[in-house]
Amino acid sequence: MTELLKPDAQALEKAARIIKDGGVVAFPTETVYGLGADAGNPDAIARIFAAKGRPQDNPLIAHIWDVSMLPGVISGELPPWARALADRFWPGPLTMILPKGERVCPDCTAQLDSVGVRLPGNEWARELIKASGVPIAAPSANTSGRPSPTTAAHVYDDMKGRIPLILDGGQAKVGVESTVIDARTFPVRILRPGGITKEMILGALGDVEVDAGVMRPLAQNEVARSPGMKYRHYAPKGSLTIVEGEAEKAAGKIIELYDGFGGEKCIFAAEAHLPMYGGRNAVSLGKDKREAAQKLFALLREMDDLGVQAIFSEAVDETDIGLAVMNRMGRAAAFNIIKV
Ligand code: TXA
Ligand code: MG
Repeated sequence: MTELLKPDAQALEKAARIIKDGGVVAFPTETVYGLGADAGNPDAIARIFAAKGRPQDNPLIAHIWDVSMLPGVISGELPPWARALADRFWPGPLTMILPKGERVCPDCTAQLDSVGVRLPGNEWARELIKASGVPIAAPSANTSGRPSPTTAAHVYDDMKGRIPLILDGGQAKVGVESTVIDARTFPVRILRPGGITKEMILGALGDVEVDAGVMRPLAQNEVARSPGMKYRHYAPKGSLTIVEGEAEKAAGKIIELYDGFGGEKCIFAAEAHLPMYGGRNAVSLGKDKREAAQKLFALLREMDDLGVQAIFSEAVDETDIGLAVMNRMGRAAAFNIIKV
């Protein structure tokens, strides 16, 4: 039995009790829903991996409610550049990879000597961590390989019968997972783009690198700096093809591909471009990049539910949160991107 509760004081107490007892609870964050358990308890960590069907070598990130919880989660002090980012962007959608402390068990980080730490912006998430009294390990609350859940209903679809409780905090605001950076050295390096953008980090620190794995697949012999990069994420059941280029040209190519495809199909397009697709099955990616980030995972899930076999999507420009959108779309498409 999986219970769905609005996160009031009573539900939070119940959730915190489950976490303290070594169980798993799904909870809202500002990015996507997380599947949380005590980061220091290997049995609890094993339950997360089992519920998701997650590969054992993919580490989990540890969530803290306040910077006062950092000692022991990381070892040593925050380097000055990491402190500057924490001051500016925490609470918020930023995960920093730092040397692991003893409060996080080795299974949580898949035996790595580093740990990803995040101080989430969602108040319910922070309340839950505070009430639990332990750092909470939490991957996105989807079955491994599915799009991350942005509503409690998405979590329920994937986790019903596998976990006792889902806290329903409504729709996630950002819609894509946190920015992951390697913060052990300067300049910091973006391993996964998200709501704290390259431009924002550049503005705060004056320098930033973007890992090559962000916008292309890894070569056979290449070592992933972040284990998550190895896996094909967000794979829709049908195929996804992205067409990148000037709006009218891209629309022309999308129409050609769409009209030539025989099965269940749809088009993802910017709201303003919908009229270009005539009577075809075109759905809106929203008015801007921010809305596209919010809607993308829900749209991919919806198309799976409808049995869509081919999606043809416009690209969004790769500035600001557009880089995160294109990273997720690119991975969902196995980087099948046509340039026109
Ligand atoms: O927004 C988010 O970050 C959500 C919410 C729930 O907080 N969580 C999330 O976790 O997206 P997950 O496990 O789905 O993605 C974490 C990513 C993975 O790609 C993982 O490989 C990488 O971060 N990661 C975690 N720890 C790492 C480490 N020590 N070194 C390198 N990469 C790491
Ligand atoms: Mg995930």
